[in-house]
Amino acid sequence: MISQSPRFVLGVESLDDILGKVVDFGALVLIAGNPGAGKTLLASTICYANASRGIPCLYVSLQETKEVFFRHMRDFNMDFGELESRDLFKYYGLPIIMDPELINTLINELSTYSSKYKVLVVDSFTPLSRLIEKNSEIRAILQNFFYNLAKIEKSLVVLVAEIPMGKEALNLGDIEFVSDVVLFLRQCMERGLVTRFIEIRKAREAPVSIGEVPFKIIDKVGIRSFLPPQLEELPSIIRGVSYEYPCKELNEVLGPISAGSSMFVAIPADARSTENYVPGLVSLSLALKHKLKTLVIDYVRPPHTFIDSLLEYAAKKSPRSCDTLKKLVNELVSVEYVNPATMSLEELYTHEIELVRQHQPKLLILNRVDIPSRIHGIEKPEKYFTYLWNELLWFRKRGVTVVRISTYVNRESYLQNSSISETVVRLFKTLREPNLKIYLWSERKTPKIIDFQVLSKCLDEFVYGVCSEKK
Ligand SMILES: Nc1ncnc2c1ncn2[C@@H]1O[C@H](COP(=O)(O)OP(=O)(O)OP(=O)(O)O)[C@@H](O)[C@H]1O
Ligand SMILES: [Mg+2]
Repeated sequence: MISQSPRFVLGVESLDDILGKVVDFGALVLIAGNPGAGKTLLASTICYANASRGIPCLYVSLQETKEVFFRHMRDFNMDFGELESRDLFKYYGLPIIMDPELINTLINELSTYSSKYKVLVVDSFTPLSRLIEKNSEIRAILQNFFYNLAKIEKSLVVLVAEIPMGKEALNLGDIEFVSDVVLFLRQCMERGLVTRFIEIRKAREAPVSIGEVPFKIIDKVGIRSFLPPQLEELPSIIRGVSYEYPCKELNEVLGPISAGSSMFVAIPADARSTENYVPGLVSLSLALKHKLKTLVIDYVRPPHTFIDSLLEYAAKKSPRSCDTLKKLVNELVSVEYVNPATMSLEELYTHEIELVRQHQPKLLILNRVDIPSRIHGIEKPEKYFTYLWNELLWFRKRGVTVVRISTYVNRESYLQNSSISETVVRLFKTLREPNLKIYLWSERKTPKIIDFQVLSKCLDEFVYGVCSEKK
């Protein structure tokens, strides 16, 4: 008797969140989709994820040679050769043109493997099902075989099905009905940009409220999905953990910033360069003061411009070269340049979430959020807002504090962004008062207007402090 049933995974975080319970002790999973939708990659991801956890996987392919498969999967950081050498993976190639008579031989052969390989992938099932279209007896045998493997042998069986371009219906007959999970991979084209979705068409015994998971295929990484947190698990801000600004004045007005909260900074479009970057640098100095790992996602400037502006600022303020600051920045800060015009909205969020997963920052600074908002938000403002809100919740759930810096576009956009932020910093000028002022608002505090100089003094204080430290 097996003391502990193998617990299967799908290897894609969002899918495991939704379908983990369904596939836990074995299931029949059908992956369908149009050509190039990512079926092989998803099936291999499932195989790889389980084999890496010690559950051997058998991959039956009617598509490509083992060498091509291994090479292709290395592009996604999956080393099947290594798993094969540890006896956790077996590639079983079948000729594309098969004789219906061979089905019985195939079933017999697969049965001999079934006690060892608890995960079986057939990529793809379509040629087999076409082969037996007219032979209902063999069809029943084949379908029963996969069904029993999942149910009686408690294996995870993954069947890939090819759906011709332009068609959405599966028409795979009984296999759709006996499957526990049916995933349909879909590609959409919006403004010339591809967006991929995994549509959960069927999930037996799972309360699925999300029917569509956007995903992205990333070179060297593989499949990454972005699943918004479900409403019943709305995360709260971590009040016990908070960070103080590097100067007294800001702390008095804004109070320390709580982990997982979000700040919105609006800067007038005609601000001068110092005025533009000082608010971001003050946030950065807050992170450096607390030794927080920081990720800057910049939508307009190439990487390192952000860091360079801090080092240049410090060089102007501090007579000696400040190696302590350089060291701190090198250790703690990463910058990524993201061009939102090259991605669909779904891809953009999946990409950003992936960057946060990779860098694991405690503070995330997003510079010039007005750019993605104008590119993606004008045509479909509700969709854009939903994604933004879900992304902020995702960050909050992980305790990532977010600073979103924007050019002031219009009052509506300012109010919308402020409404989802715990702290608001707005730089402004009036005709009567041409010197830059800052309106500061923080939850549970009285709003206040201060001079811009207070902000730059705050940065100076930090720079002096760090640069005069003894090494
Ligand atoms: N290195 C890579 N980086 C990013 N995307 C890639 C890379 N290699 C392939 N892709 C994308 O992956 C997709 C192909 O995935 P996959 O082979 O899993 O699809 P499929 O549904 O199995 O296709 P088919 O119907 O031809 O079997 C293609 O759309 C391709 O654009
Ligand atoms: Mg394929």
